[in-house]
Amino acid sequence: MYNPVRLHFGRDVIKGLGKAVSEFGNKVLLVYGGGSIMKNGIYDQVINQLNAAGMTVWKYGGIRPNPVIEDVDTATALGRLNQVDVIVAVGGGSVIDSAKVISITIPYHGTGWDFYAGRHKPVSAVPLIAVLTLAATGTEMNPFAVVQNRATMQKLGLRNDLMYPRHSFLDPSYTFSVSREYTAYGIADLMAHCLEAYFDDGDASLSDRFVFSILQEAIDYGPPLLDHLSDYDLRARIMVAATAALNRIMTMNGRKNAGDWGVHAIGHVLSLLYDLPHGASLSIAFPAWLKLQAERIPDRIAFLGKHVFGVTTPAETITSLESFFTAIGCPVRLSQAGIGEDKKEEILRVMILNQVGGNYHKLSVGDYSRIIALCS
Ligand code: NZQ
Ligand code: ZN
Repeated sequence: MYNPVRLHFGRDVIKGLGKAVSEFGNKVLLVYGGGSIMKNGIYDQVINQLNAAGMTVWKYGGIRPNPVIEDVDTATALGRLNQVDVIVAVGGGSVIDSAKVISITIPYHGTGWDFYAGRHKPVSAVPLIAVLTLAATGTEMNPFAVVQNRATMQKLGLRNDLMYPRHSFLDPSYTFSVSREYTAYGIADLMAHCLEAYFDDGDASLSDRFVFSILQEAIDYGPPLLDHLSDYDLRARIMVAATAALNRIMTMNGRKNAGDWGVHAIGHVLSLLYDLPHGASLSIAFPAWLKLQAERIPDRIAFLGKHVFGVTTPAETITSLESFFTAIGCPVRLSQAGIGEDKKEEILRVMILNQVGGNYHKLSVGDYSRIIALCS
C-alpha cells in the first residue's frame, strides 16, 4: 500500500497553500479549467496565496471537461520554457489529470501521449499541488490521469506513482457552486469506482465492507445534497466519500487487478464520441454491464444488493442501482443523453478500436453488442 498525498481537508484550508508551494521553489505553473474558478472566487483566493508567498506565476487556463492531449502539450511547453518548480492545479478531475500529465512531461522532451502509447516511461515529475473544486474522481489522492486523444480516438488512463499530488487542498465549500447535474455525475462516478473495485477478482471482505460503506454514504447523503447544494456538511460527506472511493487505500486491497475497470472503458468510448460527462457515461454503462453479467456472476451481484440495497436477487440489485441513478437525475439510457439508435454501429466500432474490456471480466465483441442494446 502506498499513498504519499498530504491531504488538507476542511473550511479555509487554502490558507496553507502558500506554505505548501514554498516547499518546492518560487516558479509556479497554475493550471485551471474554463472559468468556473473566476466566477466563484476561488481563483482570487489561490492567487492571493501565491502572491503572498512571493511566487512568479505562469497561467494555463481553458482545460476542457474530458481533457485533450493538445492542452497538456501546450501547457507543458509553457512550464518547460519557464522551468517551473511546481504546478498548482485548481479544478476538477479534468484539470488535475491534465496537470499530472504535464508534471511528468515537462522533464521529458516528447509529448504527453508517449506515456499513454507506451513509448516512454515517466522517470521524474515536477511536484504537483491540487486544489479540488469538484468531488467525483478521487484524482486528488491517486496516481491516475485520464486524457483523450481525438486523433487516435482513444481515451485512456495512466497510472504512475510520480503523479500522486504532493499536497491536495479540499475545502467542501469550494464545491458549493458545482451544478446540480455535475454534483449528481460526481456521485455516480464515486459509486462506479466502488463497484469497479468490488467486481475485481479476489476475496477481500474488508475491502468489500469499505465499498458498501462508501456506497451507503452516497445513497444516504447524495439525494439531500442535490436539494441543498450549499450545505457544507453534505458537501463534506460526499467529498470525503469520493476521495475514499479511489485512493488505493480503502477498496483495492486484496483485489488482483486494482479494479476491473471494464465499465469505465465503455464510458470512455461514450465520452470520446459524444463528449458525455464522465459520470453520465457510467450511469448509462453500469446497469447495462450488470445486466450482461447477471447470469455469469449472480451471487456476487446479489451479495452487493443484500448489503447496499437490502434486496435479494441480481435483478432487484440492478433495478435498485438504476432507480437510484434515475432519482438523482443521471441518464441510464443512451436516448436520455440524446444519443440515438442510429449511433449503435459507431459505438461498436470505437469499442472494438479501444479493445474495451475489464481486467477481470473480459468482454467479447458479442458482449459489446449486447451492452449497446442494453443501454438503448
Ligand atoms: O472548467 P471549469 O470552468 O472549471 O468547469 C468545470 C467543468 O465544466 C465544472 N466545475 C468544476 N468545479 C466547479 C465547476 N463548476 C462550478 N463550480 C465548481 N466548483 O465542472 C465541469 C466538469 O469538470 P471536470 O473536471 O471535467 O469533472 P470531473 O471532476 O468529473 O472530472 C472528469 C474527468 O476525470 C476523469 C474522467 O474520465 C474525466 O475526464 N477521471 C479521472 C480519474 C482519476 N484521475 O482517477 C478517475 C475517473 O474514473 C475518471 O476517469
Ligand atoms: Zn470514474
